[in-house]
Amino acid sequence: MGLLEEFSGKIAPMVNGYIYAAVKGKPGTLYEAALHLLRAGGKRLRPLAVVAAAQMLGEPVEKALPFAAAVELLHNYALIHDDIIDRDEYRRGVPTVHKVWGESLAIVAGDLLFAKAFEVLADALDRGIGPERVALATRHLSRAASLIAEGQALDSLFVERDDVVLEEYLDMAYRKTGSLFEAALVLGGLTSTADQSILSLLAEYGKNIGIAFQIRDDVLGITGKANVIGKPLYSDIREGRRTILVVYALEALSPAEREELLEILGARDVDEERLEKAVELIKKSGAVEYAMKLAKEYSEKARQAISRFPDNEGRRVLEELAVFVVEREK
Ligand code: IPE
Ligand code: IPE
Ligand code: MG
Ligand code: MG
Repeated sequence: MGLLEEFSGKIAPMVNGYIYAAVKGKPGTLYEAALHLLRAGGKRLRPLAVVAAAQMLGEPVEKALPFAAAVELLHNYALIHDDIIDRDEYRRGVPTVHKVWGESLAIVAGDLLFAKAFEVLADALDRGIGPERVALATRHLSRAASLIAEGQALDSLFVERDDVVLEEYLDMAYRKTGSLFEAALVLGGLTSTADQSILSLLAEYGKNIGIAFQIRDDVLGITGKANVIGKPLYSDIREGRRTILVVYALEALSPAEREELLEILGARDVDEERLEKAVELIKKSGAVEYAMKLAKEYSEKARQAISRFPDNEGRRVLEELAVFVVEREK
């Protein structure tokens, strides 16, 4: 068993316990809906990153738990709303929240988790973290929430455009996904008395694994196994998303093939055969190889950022995490 897996086996149950104790109330239906995806599974990578960063700086797990839980709660809020936006019916191998309870309840279940994230963040005050540090953590987590909204908006706005370039994609990926990994690492750092230069390195690591993570997510959306990733395949194509694969393919394909791909991406409710055709064009363009090379560069950049930290278990977990985000199959 790898260190990351071992670490996860120890930390994830503690994070889950913390979350279940915090997310309780009435009406029961609302709380059932809010906890649905959390109970279904998930990798818990962001809370693991919070705890590993804290540990790298010599802080105990218990001290990092409120921040770890806060980050996972914000992530789950984003997932519930994202599945409505993306019209997806499965996640973590189960029907999405809006599929089970309808959109109205799913929206408020997301809102509830958003609010709970900030409630549990403040619990850090009871675990020996000073008010100034908790205030800074609030600043970083709320900034991530703003960036996620911006990233999700850009993701939707890009659907209308055929000329999205790499730089714009990377900016969108940073906002919708990188920003929360960045906040996770900074929050891990804020459990300690680390100064700004340390926090900046943690932010640099988080931002880069986050971008690498999103690139790999785009790739898995066409090369993955639906029963392994727990999400539907080809959803991005169906929704016309400008993933890294599409951005690359639209530039690399011949004019005729580009037109054909654009036609499929722009159509509402295309059939399976047309989706397969789009996948074929994307693969033929070399986009998958290109994307994976780029993801590895971001992963490497992340590892560089933590290369001067003390060589301890926390750091080794973060090193394994940087590799995992690009090599993962789920
Ligand atoms: C999925 O994140 C959403 C993206 C940012 C691409 P994860 O793949 O970390 O989801 P879970 O938490 O493991 O289900
Ligand atoms: C997820 O983006 C980002 C957020 C939830 C903020 P995607 O839509 O690309 O991720 P999946 O594939 O549905 O998990
Ligand atoms: Mg989605
Ligand atoms: Mg989405």
